[in-house]
Amino acid sequence: MRLDGRVAIVTGAGQGIGRAIAEKLAAEGAKVVVADLNATTAAACAEAIGGVAHPVDVSDEAQVAALVEATVDLHGKVDVLVNDAAIVPFVAWDDIDLAEWRRIMSVNLDGTFLTCRAVYPHMRAAGYGRIVNICSNVIVAGTPNLAHYVASKGGIFAFTRALATELGRYGITVNSVAPGLTASEGVLGSPHADAFDFVVGLQAIPRRGLPGDIAPVVAFLASEEAGWVTGSMVVADGGHTRH
Ligand SMILES: NC(=O)c1ccc[n+]([C@@H]2O[C@H](COP(=O)([O-])OP(=O)(O)OC[C@H]3O[C@@H](n4cnc5c(N)ncnc54)[C@H](O)[C@@H]3O)[C@@H](O)[C@H]2O)c1
Repeated sequence: MRLDGRVAIVTGAGQGIGRAIAEKLAAEGAKVVVADLNATTAAACAEAIGGVAHPVDVSDEAQVAALVEATVDLHGKVDVLVNDAAIVPFVAWDDIDLAEWRRIMSVNLDGTFLTCRAVYPHMRAAGYGRIVNICSNVIVAGTPNLAHYVASKGGIFAFTRALATELGRYGITVNSVAPGLTASEGVLGSPHADAFDFVVGLQAIPRRGLPGDIAPVVAFLASEEAGWVTGSMVVADGGHTRH
């Protein structure tokens, strides 16, 4: 299997796309640390895949440091980091004040920075690492009712490129994956679910995107054999944006 012997941290792995990623990495042989704000769903996912749950708020620097420390204490290293944890809001532009803007940025963008910053010394010392940041095709589509989220994901796209440039010399690749509208628990429980009819009509492949459509793309970028791919964004959206 392509991830035999590898240790992976997947944030936001309690449900949705993150859980599908955790399941796929485990199926490929990785030891997965299921990191999520929700301790209950994290524990359920970890039990299902034979991994370890670690409750964490990715916007909290001390909690992120503890996550990485616990992973290295338990497994001796961290080979793969997948930044999936995010808040997907549905807020009209008129209703975004600074507090709401910061709420989204602190988890989506700051959280991605904090986890990358925390795993970096370990990956650099090992001369090996795979970082995959979950972006979104909204940065291409300019989707309404989540302008702050779109900005946070644009930041992740750009940060991924900058980090790839700085870390390539240490054997660390940094890529992003941009899903389109995907039937996760989060989306299905929000007004975004109403967009499926419209979005499916724009896709080259006319069906709903599923979490399991995203996970194999992440698994490839997380593997050793993807070592010549870095600074890239792979769009997985059924051909919605054809980016
Ligand atoms: N579902 C989509 O249509 C879609 C499309 C494009 C991109 N994405 C991206 O894919 C990723 C997963 O989306 P999803 O739809 O599966 O989400 P979801 O809402 O179903 O799940 C998100 C998970 O992240 C966790 N989380 C939230 N805040 C956290 C925090 N501060 N610290 C740790 N964990 C936290 C939640 O507890 C939850 O388990 C996100 O990065 C999202 O932006 C989703």
